[in-house]
Amino acid sequence: MTGVKILAIESSCDETSASVLVDGMVLSNIIANQSVHEQYGGVVPELASRAHQENIVPVVDTALKKAGVDMTELSAIAFTQSPGLIGSLLVGSCFAKSMAMALDIPLIGVHHMQAHVLANFIEDPKPSFPFLCLTVSGGHTQIVQCNGPLDMKVIGETMDDAAGEAFDKSAKLIGLPYPGGPLVDKHAKNGDPKRFKFPEPQIPGLNFSFSGLKTAILYFLQDNKAKDPAFVENNLDDICASVQHRIVTILMNKLVKASEETGIRQISIAGGVSANSGLRAALAEYAAKYDWQYYIPKFEYCTDNAAMIAITAYYKYLAGEFASLDAIPSARA
Ligand code: KG4
Ligand code: ZN
Repeated sequence: MTGVKILAIESSCDETSASVLVDGMVLSNIIANQSVHEQYGGVVPELASRAHQENIVPVVDTALKKAGVDMTELSAIAFTQSPGLIGSLLVGSCFAKSMAMALDIPLIGVHHMQAHVLANFIEDPKPSFPFLCLTVSGGHTQIVQCNGPLDMKVIGETMDDAAGEAFDKSAKLIGLPYPGGPLVDKHAKNGDPKRFKFPEPQIPGLNFSFSGLKTAILYFLQDNKAKDPAFVENNLDDICASVQHRIVTILMNKLVKASEETGIRQISIAGGVSANSGLRAALAEYAAKYDWQYYIPKFEYCTDNAAMIAITAYYKYLAGEFASLDAIPSARA
């Protein structure tokens, strides 16, 4: 099919993003970050909704202009339907619906986590089916078995915190500003990952747990700071490297188990945490050891972005899976 032009909007959390995709090719992917949350140490839902309202028109306008596509040429409008912050989702969904109605073109609702997985299909090399995807973001941690673009099964998931939360909460305990994940990554690059040992939770099957790690870090810091008030500043890089090493090994050990159980050796990672350099290096290392073929989306397609919504919408468009104008967004999956 040629001439399929899709505008996609992503507004599930604190990034307002719009992307234009033509015949499966991403021509633009504009992302407006919201710095307003930094001073609060986490995303404030009400402020996120307001920032989305301010950003959405200029972001969509820029995405169309950069792609050289006029809105009257569009074949469909896609939006993130779930999961996410409900107020944020409502801004994107209302905008998408209004535009679809005004242009009299189909609407496509997209699941945010499915889109993170399909970010692997934006650029070459692309995995073939079936493959396993470790989807790690601020809200989710899942191992997904992908049998087709629209045929996915969650075979393992977190029972408490998500991997991104584990990074952000650890960072907060260490004293780093929000969002801490990328900062832990930055400091870890200069540190010794084996210097401090944190426990690995013994969770059966393919599920994850990160809440015990958070508690272990809390007590570890309390004990050491009682002995030496300058402990954190003098050992920051080693602490970050050791925390990151534990989070990464928890993730990788379950991925190894999933590969052994399913017999699938095509492995990908997706979601915001897949931007982590320790996880990327570990995937390459494990791939060599276990004879995996591995795939990681380009950095800008790992964290929240509308290009992944657009590629998912493209598969849905080809399959004729459209949403009705009364489709409602949902905070949960
Ligand atoms: O997928 P994403 O952009 O948003 C959600 O859907 O949640 O993921 C955001 C999460 C945050 O927890 C952030 O700290 C984490 O991804 N993150 C990282 C890195 N870059 C983003 N965590 C560790 N290392 C990074 N380099
Ligand atoms: Zn996400």
